[in-house]
Amino acid sequence: MPAYESLVGLGEREVSDFIAHNGVAPIPNPPAPLAKGQDGLKLSNDPAHPFITPGPDDLRGPCPALNTLANHGFLPRNGVARPDQIVTAVMEGLNLGNDFAKFLVYQAFLMNGNPLTNLMSIGMHTPLTGQNPPKPALVGGLSQHGTFEGDTSMSRVDAFFGDPAAFNQTRFNDLLDFSTKYGFNGTYDLNATAEFRFQRLQDSIMTNPELDFTAPRILSAYSEAVFPLVYFVDGRLNNRQLTQDAATSFFADQRLPADFHRQPAPVSFEVIEPMVGEIFAKHPFTPGVNHGKNNYQLMPNTPALSDFCGIYKDIVLRVIPAQYPRPSSQLKDALNKNLGFLFGAVKQQHNCTQVFPYGR
Ligand code: HEM
Repeated sequence: MPAYESLVGLGEREVSDFIAHNGVAPIPNPPAPLAKGQDGLKLSNDPAHPFITPGPDDLRGPCPALNTLANHGFLPRNGVARPDQIVTAVMEGLNLGNDFAKFLVYQAFLMNGNPLTNLMSIGMHTPLTGQNPPKPALVGGLSQHGTFEGDTSMSRVDAFFGDPAAFNQTRFNDLLDFSTKYGFNGTYDLNATAEFRFQRLQDSIMTNPELDFTAPRILSAYSEAVFPLVYFVDGRLNNRQLTQDAATSFFADQRLPADFHRQPAPVSFEVIEPMVGEIFAKHPFTPGVNHGKNNYQLMPNTPALSDFCGIYKDIVLRVIPAQYPRPSSQLKDALNKNLGFLFGAVKQQHNCTQVFPYGR
């Protein structure tokens, strides 16, 4: 099998054989931005990307966007993909800006993927991602709690209460109720988001004795709250007001609405961050953890939501080395490559200093 071929779909044994012969799997560079002229409004729910209900062995997880993109074939339908494939899928399907897509994907991949095989599950752990690196590496897929997946989700329960990756109708009904109550014309808009996001945190503080609301989860929780009213709104309307029907299509059915068009231009940090700032300003919070129900202890050593470079550093110097404390040379090379891709994603728009957990 040629070294540039994807390992997706191979069994654990075949992947192990491949690595034994080739060292780590080939790691393609991150995809470039969509070409000018190809990066605008486009029908995403097109005949080339039909919705197909996932089969019993297809993996789906906590992210309504990636689940939906897999159900339409923008991602491999089995739910196992290379990071570059995921970057391409979110650019093509929803018009995520290139930097922003890379930031999300390489961060998640370093926490949840397999650097040796360059594969990640968008759901739970699977042998399809091949031979695992040695523990304490998790390679748990996106459903792995306490990495990218975390508490206070909008349509999932906290891990303390059950499967935190599975869609939860009761939770989602709250999102709809908040849209009815606070959103313009019953839509999920920025006002509804601000109220709902804050309520989810207050609810977990009251009920979840093991709540953890620290970096990096604080950033993903607040960004994911605004994603739907940007990326799930049809690009022809693009009014930052998500109808309850469209929300139900993405979250509950994991399906693009009929005739859905993606955003009319790539949307990146410069749009998402001010919106995050606005919802935070309405109801500020301090990162913390619960020691028992309604016993929220502030964590002054975790970076604040506004400290983007602090969160980048926390991921690179604390979260990733916790899984890879002393990587072998091949593993270290693969990690360093992906860490480089992650920094490449943040350096344009944030003046962060690159940090190196394993030396330069
Ligand atoms: C167009 C791009 C994306 C959109 C619109 C999007 C949207 C969302 C939304 C709305 C949630 C919150 C679900 C909830 O709280 O109930 C979420 C969760 C999540 N997303 Fe995405 N996402 C996108 C891209 C990605 C990418 C690229 C990754 C990683 C490769 C990712 C990984 C996750 C994970 C791990 C969660 C679970 C967090 C949790 O609730 O604990 N997403 N996503």
